[in-house]
Amino acid sequence: MKALEEKILRADTLEALEAVRVEIFGKKGYIASEFAKMKEIPGPEKKAFAEGLNRLKAQLQRIYDEKREALKAEALEAKMRAEAIDVTLYGGRPNKGALHPVMETMDKIIDYFVALNFSVESGEMVEDDFHNFEALNLPKYHPARDMQDTFYFKDGMLLRTHTSPVQIRTMKSQKPPIRMIAPGAVFRRDYDLTHTPMFHQVEGLVVDEKGKVSFANLKAILTDFLHYMFGDVDVRFRPSFFPFTEPSAEVDISCIFCGGEGCRVCSHTGWIEILGCGIVDPNVFKAVEYEDVSGYAFGLGVERIAMLMHRIPDLRSLFEGDLRLLEQFR
Ligand code: DAH
Repeated sequence: MKALEEKILRADTLEALEAVRVEIFGKKGYIASEFAKMKEIPGPEKKAFAEGLNRLKAQLQRIYDEKREALKAEALEAKMRAEAIDVTLYGGRPNKGALHPVMETMDKIIDYFVALNFSVESGEMVEDDFHNFEALNLPKYHPARDMQDTFYFKDGMLLRTHTSPVQIRTMKSQKPPIRMIAPGAVFRRDYDLTHTPMFHQVEGLVVDEKGKVSFANLKAILTDFLHYMFGDVDVRFRPSFFPFTEPSAEVDISCIFCGGEGCRVCSHTGWIEILGCGIVDPNVFKAVEYEDVSGYAFGLGVERIAMLMHRIPDLRSLFEGDLRLLEQFR
């Protein structure tokens, strides 16, 4: 008995214990062979012999069970120790997204005007001729329509070539005074270093009672806006033409790369053209049936500004979705 008990207790793995179990409790094991001796035991002693053997079996079984539980616990403990994860280990950098530089620039522009109480309006990307051209004083066969090579649908609808039609939609659905910007995508048949068929503009429009809105107001707000965007630059207003404004101007800033000395970016002029603006043409107010009002408007290209701010040489690269480019803007 003592020897068998020792055997169980000395097993130091579950495998070793299993071998001992077979040796003791197995079909050809010690207990079985002891029971086999029953037939040689004289009748009157059989009962006591069997009882003794059963007691021994039960006792060994209890020791065996305890030992088995202990070894199982030990094995589990060892397994957990081996598979433990060190949560303090370096795990690699998670892949973090970022705003596209065009959207980031757009947000910055929107923030400026929202702070000055402009509402943010949106129109339709698929426009009709009236809103995109006619109401903006670009009648059919007006030569200025050629300035904007248009994508037409078969039914005469078109992809808006600028955000100016949002001026018309807003004036038709609201009463003056109006103080709005309209950021959004526009479309033109154009594709080169500085042009993509889809790009973004931000339109601005302020309308109030006649005499309340002047070119001086326009000049002040745009000059301040350009300082907000580009810091300490010179700003100049250059006479220009747009069908929907009269008088019209194009606004330049001193070149942010050479400081006005002249370089490749500014074509050695020292100036970079940044937006178009003017006093709303009376014909535009006529088209939306507004009377006794005056207003100013402006429009700017978002990609152009993003390109300048980030020194992106090829505009097309912004829309190719190449992560190597985009990851630089995180
Ligand atoms: N719509 C013009 C364009 O796409 C930009 C523009 C110029 C908008 C002058 C205006 C403006 O509102 O007054 O080139």
